[in-house]
Amino acid sequence: MKGVILAGGLGSRLFPLTKITNKHLLPIYNKPMIYYPIETLVEADVDEIMIVTGGNFAGDFLQLLGNGSEFGLHDIHYTYQVGEGGIAAALSLTEHFVDRDRVIVILGDNILEKGIRPYAEKYRQQEKGARILLKEVKDPKRFGVPEIQGERIVAIEEKPSNPKSNYAVTGIYMYDEMVWDVIKTLKPSARNELEITDVNNAYINNSVLRYDILEGWWTDAGTFDSLLQANNLVAEKAKKS
Ligand code: DAU
Repeated sequence: MKGVILAGGLGSRLFPLTKITNKHLLPIYNKPMIYYPIETLVEADVDEIMIVTGGNFAGDFLQLLGNGSEFGLHDIHYTYQVGEGGIAAALSLTEHFVDRDRVIVILGDNILEKGIRPYAEKYRQQEKGARILLKEVKDPKRFGVPEIQGERIVAIEEKPSNPKSNYAVTGIYMYDEMVWDVIKTLKPSARNELEITDVNNAYINNSVLRYDILEGWWTDAGTFDSLLQANNLVAEKAKKS
């Protein structure tokens, strides 16, 4: 299974912090943000990784990470997204790298207390389709939100004004090779992006999307408040260990 980290976009919600660097190079306690998704993948035994980045500071990733030897990797693959056409658009740039394999995608600003190893293991056993991870949150309106009936997700809405549950779809997605055909059918959303939520809804419509509830805390770090929260959570965890 391959791993893809999406670290494109312009980080405009964090301006002026992102005026002179890429959002994913900002510090989260004692490490740059991009370290955390790399560690999450490596801990789940994914060692073939491509990072999608963009903007004016893409070269800094190479300077910081090199071939990933610090993480026990043999090399890291990089690709470049022009503009910010959305998460699904960023993912589409990795088709040639993933090839016919399966892929775990993680958003570069998603930080977790615990690993994803048990869920990756379940996905390795899953016959086909996709697998996503949900987490209960206080502010579902900020996220993709699932409508759950019994054991099934029947639909996901992106940033709904009336959320149908208190769960967020976290930025960790596991896909089989169907994902590339799905992305090719997508149309830009109201915010002019190719939405990952539309990809997940296509899997739901084919009855092949499964989910787990993520254990431990989870946060993104794309707003001032969530960036601060991510720093605090990681600092507390570091001090406990
Ligand atoms: O964090 C989880 C949420 O992430 C999900 O619940 C939502 O369904 C999903 O749409 C996404 O929402 P955000 O609005 O928070 O995504 P954002 O635009 O902040 O992008 C998150 C990461 O995705 C960002 O750190 C880098 C990557 N990205 C994003 C865009 C728009 C790219 O690589 N390229 C892009 O064009």
